[in-house]
Amino acid sequence: MLNIEQKKAPTRHRVLSGMRPTGRLHIGHLFGALDNWVKMQETDDAFFMIADLHALTTGFENSSGIGDNIREVLLDYLVAGVDPHRCTLFLQSQVPEVPMLSLLLSMIVPVGWLERSPTYKDQIRELGAEIATHGFLGYPVLMTADIILFKADQVPVGQDQVAHLELTREIVRRFHHLYQPVFVEPKARLTEFPSVPGTDGRKMSKSYGNSIMLSDTTVEKEAKIKTMITDPRKVYKGDPGRPEICTVYYFHKIYSQGELPDIEAGCRSGALGCTDCKKRLMKTMGEATAPMVEQRLELAKNPNLVQDVLSTGNRKAREVARQTLGEAQDAMGMARTPA
Ligand code: TRP
Repeated sequence: MLNIEQKKAPTRHRVLSGMRPTGRLHIGHLFGALDNWVKMQETDDAFFMIADLHALTTGFENSSGIGDNIREVLLDYLVAGVDPHRCTLFLQSQVPEVPMLSLLLSMIVPVGWLERSPTYKDQIRELGAEIATHGFLGYPVLMTADIILFKADQVPVGQDQVAHLELTREIVRRFHHLYQPVFVEPKARLTEFPSVPGTDGRKMSKSYGNSIMLSDTTVEKEAKIKTMITDPRKVYKGDPGRPEICTVYYFHKIYSQGELPDIEAGCRSGALGCTDCKKRLMKTMGEATAPMVEQRLELAKNPNLVQDVLSTGNRKAREVARQTLGEAQDAMGMARTPA
């Protein structure tokens, strides 16, 4: 009998993701999302962007700083391994089809859907009612436009964005129900570490002041590791600890894979004290990140970096976006935007 192994060609996904330029990126961004970007640019048709319009939703009062932050985020993308030759890297505001589609979608999205979004409620609680602008309420609509203009089926993001993607899928279904099928319903793609803790054990977030930045020097990283919260029941060396609730151990899982069994056993038995355990993390994290810090300084010497890196991607992204926007306008019976 003939037994020919049929090799299925792997599906090449269309991928889109982005981050807001509100400051430098931290290692939560790296292990929560960027690591997947770097993998997917090898296997898939990937579009990655800097979401400067989204940065305005919470940063409209200090909008003049967004330009500098675009540069910082771009540097962080590059040192994380995002390669503009392997993906399409662009700046959201340079693709005007994005805000156009966002406006069209805003006509069909019920306000209640947006008010119920958990991120919306959390952010208002945290930042106060002053940020409850029209644009901020529409954050997920703009994000939907980003994703569906590129017909992305996979969106590599951190855990915090999963609720937004659920809303995106609902908006797509509503559009298709009202008009014609044009778009693709995207799915979130999470990493092995979708929610990285900060030094205080809460989720790593710039607004909590508990972040380790990609750009931190080894000395800065060491100072932050020293402050990391460990198991409160392990007070002295000799006390048994619980690695599963320890922030330092979480980072060992990322940076010290080869030493994990030893560290875990040492912590549980009490033989390994928290100070020594932190020193081991300083070493492995330092070794892994020092080259990035160096490369970042090197890249930062180019004053035309943003223009040099993004102009080709901006053009390519617009071509794809213009095509889909035209299809959406046709489906709605609206005139096409002229080229
Ligand atoms: N909301 C995302 C964040 O805060 C940023 C973002 C904007 C995004 N548009 C997107 C992520 C489209 C994925 C896809 O990190």
